[in-house]
Amino acid sequence: MLFKQQALLRQKLFVLGSLAIGSVLYLVARVGTLDRLQPICPIESRLPPPEPEQIPLRTLQFKRGLLHELRKGNATKEQIRLHNLVQQLPRAIIIGVRKGGTRALLEMLNLHPAVVKASQEIHFFDNDKNYARGIDWYREKMPFSFPHQITIEKSPAYFITEEVPERIFKMNSSIKLLIIVREPTTRAVSDYTQVLEGKERKNKTYHKFEKLAIDSNTCEVNTKYKAVRTSIYTKHLERWLKYFPVEQFHIVDGDRLITDPLPELQLVERFLNLPSRISQYNLYFNATRGFYCLRFNIVFNKCLAGSKGRIHPEVDLSVVTKLQKFFHPFNQKFYQITGRTFNWP
Ligand code: A3P
Repeated sequence: MLFKQQALLRQKLFVLGSLAIGSVLYLVARVGTLDRLQPICPIESRLPPPEPEQIPLRTLQFKRGLLHELRKGNATKEQIRLHNLVQQLPRAIIIGVRKGGTRALLEMLNLHPAVVKASQEIHFFDNDKNYARGIDWYREKMPFSFPHQITIEKSPAYFITEEVPERIFKMNSSIKLLIIVREPTTRAVSDYTQVLEGKERKNKTYHKFEKLAIDSNTCEVNTKYKAVRTSIYTKHLERWLKYFPVEQFHIVDGDRLITDPLPELQLVERFLNLPSRISQYNLYFNATRGFYCLRFNIVFNKCLAGSKGRIHPEVDLSVVTKLQKFFHPFNQKFYQITGRTFNWP
């Protein structure tokens, strides 16, 4: 009985084996014939390379991977040459405002396959020593990118530095300028909180916000305090408007970027003439952080560093009200100039 079963099994194995070998032989023969029958596609009948706008997302993701390797310093000179990678001057700059959400905006725009960010704040136009190094020095600070991509840098000090508008104008008079703003009093407190943290790290004491923001002699708002001055957006913008028409600016609502970033990013995509590519998939709310975080793909996501989203100290309500009243007329002017209105008090 056992002998009979073993013979049957051997027979089955033999049949299966023969079938498998037969199939392999058939496939080898078939592929060989196909190779001979189908002539290699002649160059002239091949499809032309796609236009930059038509490059499929997957290709761009591959390119992103390559750019990532480059940033890590793993890509070779040969790869740079082969893929036509270049260091381009920025075609758009986030010029400010400090504590408006400049980092979040840059990182979120970098989700777009046609955008490449300069990771560090370069401080080329606001720092005389850097500026004296010349435009080639600036270009060398830029990340590698594909020619169709646009490079964006952010240095929030640009917005408030006297010399910067003229210097940027000399580099590129048609550059696109992004300004992200928050309700001015909140921004001032955020600014203060950052400085306070720096002092505490060095074990230094620091004044309370109220003492800095209000002049103790006059009991009025202290306009000499930098955190207050920076929040007078219209004053700074007016300097920029001596060089650039208002159409070259786009105002981002930094408060909405915190609570609902996608619509703000879509407005920026449009301003930069980019196809809409950033989607809700790329942004997810992280309850632990209390902020939206970034999802590049199924494996790679990140939140901003802990230095973004600090807890603000509580500020005396009368001081808050005084500041809000102080900023009010400047805000009205800002809305009028920019054509963007906010619900600021
Ligand atoms: P706070 O620290 O006051 O909350 P900047 O990058 O210009 O310094 O701005 C910092 C601010 O960006 C933070 O201010 C934070 O509120 C805001 N922000 C906006 N979107 C954010 C995000 N997704 N993650 C962390 N912070 C974000």
